[in-house]
This record gives sequence, C-alpha cells and structure tokens, in this order.
Amino acid sequence: HVSATPRHLMTIADLTPTEFANLVRNAASHKAAIKGGAPHSSLNNGLLGQTVAMMFNKRSTRTRVSTEAAVNMLGGHPMFLGKDDIQLGVNESLYDTSVVISSMTSCMVARVGPHSDVTTLAKHSSVPVINALSDDFHPLQTIADFLTLHETFPSSSAIGASLGLNGLKVAWVGDANNVLFDLAIGCIKMGVDIAVAAPKGYEIPAAMKQLILSTAKGVESPGKLTETTVPEEAVKDANVLVTDTWVSMGQETEAQKRLKDFAGFQITNDLAKRGGAKEDWKFMHCLPRHPEEVADEVFYSPRSLVFPEAENRLWAALSALEGFVVNKGKF
Ligand code: CP
Ligand code: NVA
Repeated sequence: HVSATPRHLMTIADLTPTEFANLVRNAASHKAAIKGGAPHSSLNNGLLGQTVAMMFNKRSTRTRVSTEAAVNMLGGHPMFLGKDDIQLGVNESLYDTSVVISSMTSCMVARVGPHSDVTTLAKHSSVPVINALSDDFHPLQTIADFLTLHETFPSSSAIGASLGLNGLKVAWVGDANNVLFDLAIGCIKMGVDIAVAAPKGYEIPAAMKQLILSTAKGVESPGKLTETTVPEEAVKDANVLVTDTWVSMGQETEAQKRLKDFAGFQITNDLAKRGGAKEDWKFMHCLPRHPEEVADEVFYSPRSLVFPEAENRLWAALSALEGFVVNKGKF
C-alpha cells in the first residue's frame, strides 16, 4: 500500500526553516543517543522488512556508505544499484524505471547528473525519492554540514526555526557548484551569512542565484548572500571557510582549464590571515578533497572539521530516511 503523493527531498529549498532545523536536530539526537550506547533497536526498526533502492550514476564513498549504514540501522535493506546495474535513463526511460522500482521498494535514493533526472524519478514515483547529489543540489550534505555547525557553534537559542547560528559568517572560496547551492539555501534559512568567492566565469548561474535568494521569503532573519571574485573579500570576518573540488563529477574534460582558472583560490592559512578571517576560523569540505583547493596545513589542522563533517553524513542520512520514509515527510 502506497500513499498517492509521497514527499521527496530534492533540495533544501523544499524545506521550511523549522523542518530543516528539525532534520538537523533529529540527526544530532540520534547521534548522541547511539554514540552514547543506545542500541540500534532504539530507532524502532522503522524500515524493518523494507528495501531502499540506491540508484547511483556517479561514484560515491560517503553518500553510499552513510545511506547503506543508516538503512541498516533502521532495520531495512539497502539495495545498491550502480550505473552498470540498472537501466537508469539508458536503454529505459526514467518514467518506466521510476514506476517499476517504486512499486517494489520503500524509497529511492538517487545520485544523478542533470537535476531533472532526479525530479523526473520523483514525479513518477509512488515512494519518497531522496536526492543523493545532482548537478544542482546536495541536500544530505547540507544537513550534515549544519549538524557540524550546530556542534561547533552551540547556542541556547537553537529552538523552533532556528539552530541558533544567526550572525555567523561562512566564506565559500572556490567553484560555485551543487554543494554550494544547497549550503547557501541552508544559510539563508538559518540566518547565516554566506560570501562566495569564485573566479570570473564560475559564478552562481543567474537562475540558480534567483532560486537561492527566493528562499529568503518568509524567513524571519534570513542570511545574506554576497558574491565576489576576490577570495580575501569573502574571507573577511568569516567564522568558517568552506570549499569543494574545482572539478566536479561530469566536468572531467574541463579539468586542465579549471585548474588554471582557479589559480589563487586555494585555501591556506595565509589567505585567511590576509583576508582577515576570524581568529578561530574553522574549515569545512564535503570531500573528496584534492590539495589544489585547500592546503594540507589547513585540511589536517585542528581548525579542520572535515572528518566529523564526513561522519555526520551518517546521522544526516538516518534523520532524512526517518523523516521522509518512516515518518512520511513529517519531522
Ligand atoms: N560528500 C560526498 O557526497 O561524498 P561522496 O561523493 O563520497 O558520496
Ligand atoms: N561537487 C562535487 C561533490 C561531490 C560530493 C561533485 O559534484 O562531484
């Protein structure tokens, strides 16, 4: 038996600020309970006897491992379907694929190229679809990133639609990509200012910028988005410096040009100092990481939150699966 219109997670834009904050808080409370020794059965086996199809058209370490582990923790079965295993838009339409797989499973977690691939799956699915990274968005990463911020900057006002992060400043230095877009939406919803430094020609595309800015509507004190081509400008007064690869999956043929065009955008201690980041600035990166976008002196330093951030993908996946699948879109 399936409900007629399941709720999907395509982007953080789909969530109200309260819902987003709740997904982060639920992730935090499961993490505290289970790391504190509670058995997985305390999660009530919400997916017992159920299968989650994981349709991945691109490589993955964190998203795959965290999703498989989280499904297991909820008592379900994760079924990994790589790009050579099924006909995902190759030799079979997305429509047919979606109708068939959703008729046999409780959820589809999909990693795709064009964002329209995952929205098409969702449109025709009888079960919730979770975006596990598209060319435009990475919502599971953003939930994990806000869990990381919530742990790093704890606040007594972390209630309701707020995680108590208001007034914080994030500086994104690098490519304006899928990871940034959902992070920026999360920042706007949580009252966190975000400054983006990307080289000329690699700015946030106009339509995406419009979408990101539109998510401030109805938010009591939305974070501000600013853009520059000068890394030092973005870094000024930032609490957190963030970046990602300069060459996302699917952009491999542009690698040489991108490496040239992004020269000067590497995050280093000197950049933070020159730009005037806050004295106790932190560093985040969704991984996988390459040395060109961030120096070892930062990546492996005590400022770096990258490994707790990666672990938080597990708790984010658990929270999202519970929210969208077990609790049918209510959280
Ligand atoms: N951060 C992230 O999504 O990593 P994977 O590509 O390894 O899943
Ligand atoms: N921007 C990267 C993120 C990988 C997790 C990519 O799309 O390849």
